[in-house]
Amino acid sequence: MSKTLAEMATDVLSTADGRAKTALSRRYAAEWAAARLAGNAPETGTANPPMHPARPSEPALLNPRDVPRRKPGTPEGRIAILHAVAHIELNAVDLHWDLLARFGHVEMPDGYYDDWVKAADEESKHFNLMADCLEAHGSHYGALPAHAGMWQAAEDTAEDLMGRLAVVPMVLEARGLDVTPGMIKIFKQAKDTQTIEALEVIYGEEVGHVAYGSKWFHFLCGRHNLDPKPVFHTLVRKYFHSTLRPPFNEEKRAEAGIPPDFYWPLTEINDA
Ligand SMILES: [Fe+2]
Ligand SMILES: [Fe+2]
Repeated sequence: MSKTLAEMATDVLSTADGRAKTALSRRYAAEWAAARLAGNAPETGTANPPMHPARPSEPALLNPRDVPRRKPGTPEGRIAILHAVAHIELNAVDLHWDLLARFGHVEMPDGYYDDWVKAADEESKHFNLMADCLEAHGSHYGALPAHAGMWQAAEDTAEDLMGRLAVVPMVLEARGLDVTPGMIKIFKQAKDTQTIEALEVIYGEEVGHVAYGSKWFHFLCGRHNLDPKPVFHTLVRKYFHSTLRPPFNEEKRAEAGIPPDFYWPLTEINDA
């Protein structure tokens, strides 16, 4: 294998089609894991990733205000949920590879790369699971409009690895832990076994992604002799343009290494 990890990441980011992007992502992740096991992992390297990853021409990306809302109790409403989750997962594939491509200049232990390559691989699996569910319902990824603003967090934190870890895994992916049980309930009511099983895979693996975020955020705080909690609050207030909204999944957040005093203070508008 001659490519550096940052180059592999850039290849994934530069692939537009969802299925092609996730196929390449999974292939590179498997190559990385096999090479690490054999003791000859490629260089991590540095790269110049695009500011915006390549994406398919559909779905149309709209301002969240303009994305039509549908009732979750209807088949159309459930397809809309699947489509929204597929879009989140494709975005997550790019977010994890972007982390590996963009911050190659920050020296980190090998386990850091293993964690984020694994997370990128799992997001690729999640996208495929959601795309499969959409297709089982006669739809497909790209059939409905999707939120345009999802790459904002990546742009805002493009120069700040600790900011990226605070906002992406520790806020956005932690939010996924809060909302996924409610989604599973909707599909249980519809007796949609394929989707229930897919969402349960996603729910289980997302705990790991949040935990990687917390682990490496704390690692960097230790390296720079910083107190994690106030630094987390400062970075989220700087880069995340909203307050956090309860209810929180306190149990899964705790499992992922995010204690309540990290997120509860961020539910209030900062007057400091
Ligand atoms: Fe995911
Ligand atoms: Fe994730």
